[in-house]
Amino acid sequence: MIITELQETLVYLCETTEVVEGQGHRVELQEQPAVAVFKYDNDYYAINDKCTHGNASLCDGDVDGCEVECPFHSGAFNFITGEATAAPCTIPIKTHSIRIIENKLYLVP
Ligand code: FES
Repeated sequence: MIITELQETLVYLCETTEVVEGQGHRVELQEQPAVAVFKYDNDYYAINDKCTHGNASLCDGDVDGCEVECPFHSGAFNFITGEATAAPCTIPIKTHSIRIIENKLYLVP
């Protein structure tokens, strides 16, 4: 009952099995920008998918540890903290809180 009530306030993203370590999983959402979900060290992280430097999907970028490199100009972000870690990116990427319930990932609004 408590889990059901909590789930109603969360935004479903995907199954945990859809997220593969070493690559981003893009999720389109109805009323907000697309999200990129990453798995790292047996935990899951979500950031906005669109690079803060331009119109690139970070899910198309290479992943190295907890960093994702933008496919357009090789800027990079730490997907745990959102920090921009390589030029030309200087603006942090928005991070999102997520919950895992019964192997399903949810965005916390
Ligand atoms: S669009 Fe991402 S680094 Fe330029």
